Amino acid sequence: MSAATVRIAPSLLSADFARLTDHLAMIEAGGADWLHLDVMDGCFVPNLTFGAKVIETCARVTKLPLDVHLMVVEPEKYLESFAKSGASVLTIHAEAAPHLHRQVARIKELGCQAGVALNPATSLESVREVAAELDLLLVMTVNPGFGGQAFIPSSLDKIRRARALLDAAGSRARLEVDGGIARDTITACWRAGADTFVAGNAVFGAADPSAEVRALRARCAESA
Ligand code: DX5
Ligand code: ZN
Repeated sequence: MSAATVRIAPSLLSADFARLTDHLAMIEAGGADWLHLDVMDGCFVPNLTFGAKVIETCARVTKLPLDVHLMVVEPEKYLESFAKSGASVLTIHAEAAPHLHRQVARIKELGCQAGVALNPATSLESVREVAAELDLLLVMTVNPGFGGQAFIPSSLDKIRRARALLDAAGSRARLEVDGGIARDTITACWRAGADTFVAGNAVFGAADPSAEVRALRARCAESA
């Protein structure tokens, strides 16, 4: 895989909401590819964040495609409003969507790219039958709910197996990783087959978020 395929997606969760426009301008200047937006409902995960209003605000203040990660039960309730709010990618959790095939089709019908996310304890088998339909597979590398958690080392093997599963299905889906991605973990994920990297704390907790986006990309380029 060429380093040109790398996508860096800083996560808004760790940004300073009082300096939203500044922070978004910084990551754009650093060459970020997507803005990752974590929607949490306090039910699927033990934390609450935001919904359509914030997605719509981000769509107005950044040109970056919005990569919306739904950590909610009954994600189908929100697909239409999030698509209208400006989402480019809508990723739902397999654990929250028993009718994945239908929901993936619905997301595409709404004009968005369709992603499915898997918690660390969820088997890759739950996406095998829809792999060819996906635009993105998100392998969670922490248990979802909070930024700033430590990367789970056993995720590397799962990333390798996810890459093999997508290749075997002839899927062109991006393979995204989310949770604990930083300079010390991104290279191993990239080598294992991930091509899209969410980073919250690493980017927005850095003194210079622009430089951090560049540094994360450089880690992949160096090991390409
Ligand atoms: C966690 C979220 C992540 C979070 C990642 O549940 O899905 O997107 O923002 O944060 P870091 O990169 O700090 O682990
Ligand atoms: Zn996320």
